[in-house]
Order: sequence, then C-alpha cells, then structure tokens
Amino acid sequence: MSSETSAIGHGLDPERMPGHIAMIMDGNGRWARKRMLNRVKGHEKGADVVREMVRTCRRLGISVLTLFAFSTENWGRPKAEVGALMFLLRKFLMSEEAELIRNNIRFNTIGQTEHLPEDIRQTIDLVKDRTRSNDGMTLNLALSYGAREEIVRMARQIALESKAGLLSPDAVTEETVEGRLYTRGMRDPDLLIRTSGEMRISNFLLWQIAYAELFFTQTLWPDFTEAELIQILKDFQRRERRFGRVN
Ligand code: FPP
Repeated sequence: MSSETSAIGHGLDPERMPGHIAMIMDGNGRWARKRMLNRVKGHEKGADVVREMVRTCRRLGISVLTLFAFSTENWGRPKAEVGALMFLLRKFLMSEEAELIRNNIRFNTIGQTEHLPEDIRQTIDLVKDRTRSNDGMTLNLALSYGAREEIVRMARQIALESKAGLLSPDAVTEETVEGRLYTRGMRDPDLLIRTSGEMRISNFLLWQIAYAELFFTQTLWPDFTEAELIQILKDFQRRERRFGRVN
C-alpha cells in the first residue's frame, strides 16, 4: 500500500502531512510506577512503542522521524538505569537493522555519540552505513543530545572558521548556523509531540522547532499508540500555519 493510500485510509490529507515529526518520549518511569514495576520495565515497553512508531510513520509517508532517546542530562540517572537504557539501545539497533533495510529507512543519530559505549558506537556506524542509501524515511535518534551543547558546538565551529580566515563574520547567516548543527541538511520539524503531560521542551531541538506545531498529550509514552498519533495528525492538519505572516 502506498503512503498516500495509507494516509487517506486513516482520514488524513496526504498533501498536508508533516514532513518531519519530532517526539519527546516521556513517562516511562511513571508508567512502571503505576504498575508497581521497576522503571526499566517502563523503558522496555517504551522501546516497543518506538518500534511501532517507526513503522507507522514510515507507512504514512513521513520523511523524518526524530526521537529523543537519551539526553545529555540522562547520564546523571542511576548507573543501573543508564545501563538498562544502553542495553535497550543495543538491542534495538541489532533487532531493527533488518527491518530498517527492508523498509528503506535511513538510520541517523544526532548528539554526542562519542560518549556512548564503544560497542554501541560501532553498531551505530554499521547500521548508518548499511542504510545510507535508503530514501523512504530517515529515523533520527537523539542520543546523548542536548540543544544547548549543539548550539555551543556550532558557535565554536564558526569561531574557528572565522579565526582561520575561512568565514567572515558578515557572511554568517541562518544557513551558516543550520549547516553546523547535527541536523544539517534536514528539514525542520513541522510537528513536535511530547507525551506524559509535561509542558516543556527540555533542551530538545531549540533552533529547529522555531515554527513547529507543538502537541502535548497526557498519555505516558508506553501507552502511546498509532491511533493517538493519527488523532494528533488530524489536529495538525486543522491548524493554520502562518510562519509569522498573515494569511
Ligand atoms: C523518559 O521517561 C524516557 C527516557 C529517558 C528515554 C526514552 C527511552 C525509551 C523510549 C526506550 C529506549 C529507546 C530506544 C530507542 C530503544 P522517564 O524515565 O523520564 O519517565 P518519568 O518522567 O515518568 O520518570
């Protein structure tokens, strides 16, 4: 089934689909606590929802899906929880590689991946390499990602280029900035979804979400479903996006 047919089948207008969806996957811990389970169980269920969302977005013809999987601040969580998240990431990369290839999905990461364990970095490089020429969708995992770090990194790079005489300060434009962010070459998110009722951006894609439509749902990430995503997309299609202009 084509992505167009799939969108129409869900009552969506294929002409008005967001090209890039970003998601802050929050509430795994609370989902587990409500069930008297260890927080790790929430992350496990959360990883299943990640798999489902990748499939759904691909089917609907979304070009880029960016998921906030691990923030720079998440390193401060208890060692056992960080270990469990790394274990799930490892498992996800290994189990999904074939699925990404089968579904023509390119795998990419944003963030300080150099801080991840060596074996995960190697697996990331391998999956990136094997999916490099896929053009059905890009799955962008934010790993050890923080938007302020990304902005500082970009500023440092511009300063270095300027010092080396390669870039004049007068020549710095929005494109210069965009070209030095982790997301270079990608369109900005049209839609940002955060689960679990928190109304915050939490240092995610601060530059890129300038004109994104924001959606906050009370649903905890492990309970987030395809049906709710479709509802949010319907709501998105009813919104009028003016980008600072009058209609
Ligand atoms: C927030 O829940 C979620 C995270 C810190 C990480 C997201 C991780 C996953 C969805 C699972 C693993 C991901 C992949 C790609 C395999 P929280 O722990 O902050 O929840 P809480 O606010 O209820 O405590």
